[in-house]
Amino acid sequence: MELLLDTANLKSIRDAVSTYPISGLTTNPSIISKENRSDFFALIKEIREILGKERTLHVQVTRTDCEGILKEAEAIRRHVDEDVYIKTPVSKEGLKAIGIMARDGFNVTATAIYTTIQGELAAMAGAKYLALYYNRMLNLDIDADAVFRTTASAIAASGLDCKIVGASFKNIMQVTNVFADGAEAVTVPPELLDTALANPSIDLAVRNFNKDWEKVYGNKGISEL
Ligand code: E4P
Repeated sequence: MELLLDTANLKSIRDAVSTYPISGLTTNPSIISKENRSDFFALIKEIREILGKERTLHVQVTRTDCEGILKEAEAIRRHVDEDVYIKTPVSKEGLKAIGIMARDGFNVTATAIYTTIQGELAAMAGAKYLALYYNRMLNLDIDADAVFRTTASAIAASGLDCKIVGASFKNIMQVTNVFADGAEAVTVPPELLDTALANPSIDLAVRNFNKDWEKVYGNKGISEL
């Protein structure tokens, strides 16, 4: 299981990596533009510094033609590092670029995936991660769970070195659904992640445990006994 952050906000990233078991981070042009930074590469490098080398960094291209995507991939690799994943939408031009990048040794994350066939084509072309858009599928009346399940079983049967990263989440149940559907990773906005533990029942349980404890030990904690 892998948990990635879907943000480019430096403060949120710092907070989240100190709390959650984060194994990587994804961006897209909308996420980047929210930060309103003209120095794009400086921002990405700052993100890499916080993540360290042990976490994966997935940076999305903006060009839509194969040649443009390849140029951006070269630039991202030059400015960031060789480990970065080039996040590329699975259009016809994108698929062509994914095949070329994979052959040239780039790490590729295929994205904007709404259908099983998009995922299968990207996996065959050499993508290492497939970003499937759960909530956006639901908005289109697509059976998102079915797409996750069929893609996951096709990858498992193929033996390809490729993981599904569930993306586009609006609530925590969507996140747990895709793990149940066979996704190995999810990318989640930090503010959504925080709602997972914002459950008053947790605090109530802890308060009640401590009330019982205090009857015998007063306000002393275990380390003070
Ligand atoms: C991540 O890879 C996707 O770009 C992102 O999760 C899309 O999320 P959205 O549908 O909330 O924009």
